[in-house]
Amino acid sequence: MKPKALVAGNWKMNGLASSQAELEALTHYLKDGAKADCDVLICPPFTLLSVFANAASDDIAIGAQDCHTQTSGAHTGDISAEMIKDAGAAFVIVGHSERRADHGESSVLVQEKAKAVHAQGLQAIVCVGETESDRDSGNTLTVVLGQVEASIPDEVTPENTVVAYEPVWAIGTGRTPTVEDVAEVHTAIREALVQRFGDAGNEFRILYGGSVKPSNARELMSADNVNGALVGGASLKASDFNGIIDAYRNR
Ligand code: 13P
Repeated sequence: MKPKALVAGNWKMNGLASSQAELEALTHYLKDGAKADCDVLICPPFTLLSVFANAASDDIAIGAQDCHTQTSGAHTGDISAEMIKDAGAAFVIVGHSERRADHGESSVLVQEKAKAVHAQGLQAIVCVGETESDRDSGNTLTVVLGQVEASIPDEVTPENTVVAYEPVWAIGTGRTPTVEDVAEVHTAIREALVQRFGDAGNEFRILYGGSVKPSNARELMSADNVNGALVGGASLKASDFNGIIDAYRNR
């Protein structure tokens, strides 16, 4: 069976208390709009996690954008998966390319973070993706599949892990791969998951991320083995995010 789609918004370092209005607007769209055939997730900054978790309707899950590998201790400025759970969140993004680039996070570390997420009973969204030079040199699949292999722990299930393919060069640039290119990478990830986890490999959700917007969502979401989107910029406005969710509404 095809996994149920997930449309997730990654707010990155954006959002103030006043942004709760966007969460309320999204709630309104999901209630009063046509019912969408997908799960919906918002990942605000840590500062808004508990506010959003308390305010969100049952139609919207809340997640964090990163966590530490440890549960507690002397790690100034870090946040643990246990704290994230305590704040009411259900998901944690790990291994986003911005963390890999800005904070030097390796796939080995990302795997440890995913384990920390699972230890709290939360779902990990494990991000992978090639840089523009990887793609130009023909190394896309080698890089992406290498990250999948090294970032995903052995003991995962489709219930506690989501994979997100985000080509680094497509993030925040307005550029996207072709539908064929997206399908090629997603199908390769699917095959790697099946090879490693057997039949269960077919049940993992594999999200596409990188310049998804209302005008291209339907096409990108139609690619083989794409089970939803991880959305940056266009998730900040409820009306745009709702336009992306439209890809999972009958029209
Ligand atoms: P954009 O949608 O802004 O390109 O960001 C994608 C992303 O990095 C989501 O995690």
